[in-house]
Amino acid sequence: MKSGYSAPAMFREDFVQIVTADKAGIARAARALVEGQLVGMPTETVYGLAANARDPAAVARIFAAKGRPSFNPLIAHVASLEAAENDGRFNELARRLAEAFWPGPLTLIVPVQEQGTVCDLARAGLDTIGLRVPAHPVAQSLLNLLDFPLAAPSANPSGRLSPTTAQDVAEELSEELGMVLDGGQCVAGIESSIVTVLPDQQPQLLRPGAIERSELEAVVGPLMDGASLAVMAPGQLASHYAPRARLRLNAGSVREGEVLLGFGPGAPAKALNLSARGDTVEAAANLYQMMRQLDSHDVAVIAVMPIPDSGLGQAINDRLRRAAAPRSE
Ligand code: TXA
Ligand code: MG
Repeated sequence: MKSGYSAPAMFREDFVQIVTADKAGIARAARALVEGQLVGMPTETVYGLAANARDPAAVARIFAAKGRPSFNPLIAHVASLEAAENDGRFNELARRLAEAFWPGPLTLIVPVQEQGTVCDLARAGLDTIGLRVPAHPVAQSLLNLLDFPLAAPSANPSGRLSPTTAQDVAEELSEELGMVLDGGQCVAGIESSIVTVLPDQQPQLLRPGAIERSELEAVVGPLMDGASLAVMAPGQLASHYAPRARLRLNAGSVREGEVLLGFGPGAPAKALNLSARGDTVEAAANLYQMMRQLDSHDVAVIAVMPIPDSGLGQAINDRLRRAAAPRSE
């Protein structure tokens, strides 16, 4: 297992089960997802590592399983364009793309709905959201049994190839997930094409993928090349990525005019605490919601106690450093 993260016992006890994706298997996967577990899900592109997109604790386990040193926003998978519109705002261009390619290997990045239900952690705190309606019949059946979207990155540990069979998933992530639904070999074998459609902006091709650029451009006209978030420096990130208050990191104590975001058993009892038991997965699940809560007090500075770089600590610290970086506003 990666970076010292220790999985909760329920994920460690058994090796991952490869479950036949018949009616009973899909129903079992749905129950596991309702309980907050991770499930390997076939899609027509690659296998996804799925969890309830509304549940920050479940989403934190996705990041822990991926072993990634930062929080990348996750695609929310939904059953239909109608369901997607609960979480994202679609202008005419976005709707045209959705109608042309959904269900299918297209992810659309659109502004998030104010009433949207996908948790901040799944969106990495952005005010946009990546949405996709997968075409794979197993993914479709699963989504139709659920009343929440599924956050799902490709089911590979960070830095490895995306898996295209249930066996690949089981081998790569055996300790982290309860089951993988076997939907056979993925037909596309490469990830979805990602197109960003924001108001007053030419649409951008953020990631070339299973749909050819020319096919996309036939529907919406020329696409700009977009820079992926992963390669953006802290200062380049939009200011909504950060709270209004300044952040002071690795704070040993709280100063006049500051509020404290605690971590671990040593934090003052009355401070908000990311994880009183010092668990970085729990801290990740609480991060955005607690920052938001402290920021709503209109304080100048949020002092954040040191967070170890082990487990999800690296990703949390990366996020905090970005939020603490000087902004050009
Ligand atoms: O085919 C696929 O898209 C597969 C299957 C499982 O659906 N999923 C997948 O997810 O490839 P992932 O997490 O490996 O790649 C998604 C990419 C990431 O690079 C992430 O940064 C980007 O989508 N992304 C998601 N939401 C975004 C947002 N709001 N803004 C910018 N980029 C976003
Ligand atoms: Mg991936």
